[in-house]
Amino acid sequence: MKNYQEQLHLLFEEPILIQDNFISFKESDANIESNQQQTKDIFSDKWESTDKIENVEKLYDTQYKWFLSLYGFQSENDLKEYLKDKHTIIDTGCGLGYKAQWFATLAPHALVIGIDISDSCKIAARIFSQLENLFFLQSDIADTKLKKSSIDFVVCDQVIMHTENPEKTFTHLSELTSEVGEFACYFYRKKALPRELVDDYFRTATHSISKEEMWQFSEQLTELGKRLNELNITFESPDIPLLGIKGGTYDIQRFIYWNFLKCYWNPEWGIELSKITNFDWYAPSNAKRFSKEEVQEIVRSNNMKVAYWHEEEACYSGRFNKLN
Ligand SMILES: C[S@@+](CC[C@H](N)C(=O)[O-])C[C@H]1O[C@@H](n2cnc3c(N)ncnc32)[C@H](O)[C@@H]1O
Repeated sequence: MKNYQEQLHLLFEEPILIQDNFISFKESDANIESNQQQTKDIFSDKWESTDKIENVEKLYDTQYKWFLSLYGFQSENDLKEYLKDKHTIIDTGCGLGYKAQWFATLAPHALVIGIDISDSCKIAARIFSQLENLFFLQSDIADTKLKKSSIDFVVCDQVIMHTENPEKTFTHLSELTSEVGEFACYFYRKKALPRELVDDYFRTATHSISKEEMWQFSEQLTELGKRLNELNITFESPDIPLLGIKGGTYDIQRFIYWNFLKCYWNPEWGIELSKITNFDWYAPSNAKRFSKEEVQEIVRSNNMKVAYWHEEEACYSGRFNKLN
């Protein structure tokens, strides 16, 4: 049996304490920027609500499938094969830890650490206490205190744009990636101009909106999405390049969603999970969006190359490794 605790002590630059499956630093540094503090509080709230939802497995299943397509795996088995030579894995911004748990199950030979700034880490450590190769750490992923080049698979899925300075976070995470390792990262993609303007306005406004009002707002957006979807209308939109609106056949709800306002609605998920998705978008103060050129420049300037690239309406994602 491997001694994971011994291995963990060697992975960090600073002394750590390990209590069961939860890691903390002996000398903790609680200095968090105010936007990041807001993002931390908001996500602590989101995950606490998510943990109580009955059909949360639907969210996990959708997320597992999406992960495979975001990072170029044909199937879960393909991911399992890929993980065979990965001995250290971190899931940065792990939320409730369900993906970290997935990796730890698919790669029982590997040491897996889920890291998140929010209190979700503590819930995750409680839920997933059975796997001996899985640990959790509550920390800012821009400064994990892990040693450089120590991690074979660094995952940062749907997270980097919530960090205080995504470019700096990318640099830190690429430095952690081992010489033979890969860094899988997801970036929100810039949308049409009206949607960007509304999103930016709201992000500023959310600084002074209470959590209760934010949840109400998320519920109203969900209701709007639901009602638009139930109209069951499709139509042909013209191209409007100056606003970044692409022409084509749209369902009316998707047209408004992509171009004006995130009013997410997924009939299979129902109200609660859809509401959490809307909350997840508008509540955090930090949620930067990127163009393709910006992502490519971040990758290049960190001396990384693209091993796999994916793009879709919502995002850019890929697996990156170090240039020799
Ligand atoms: C949209 S959720 C994604 C969670 C998970 N990766 C998933 O795919 O379900 C973003 C997560 O990033 C975390 N986060 C945001 N900024 C962070 C930071 N600077 N350091 C660590 N975690 C952060 C939030 O607390 C939240 O749990």
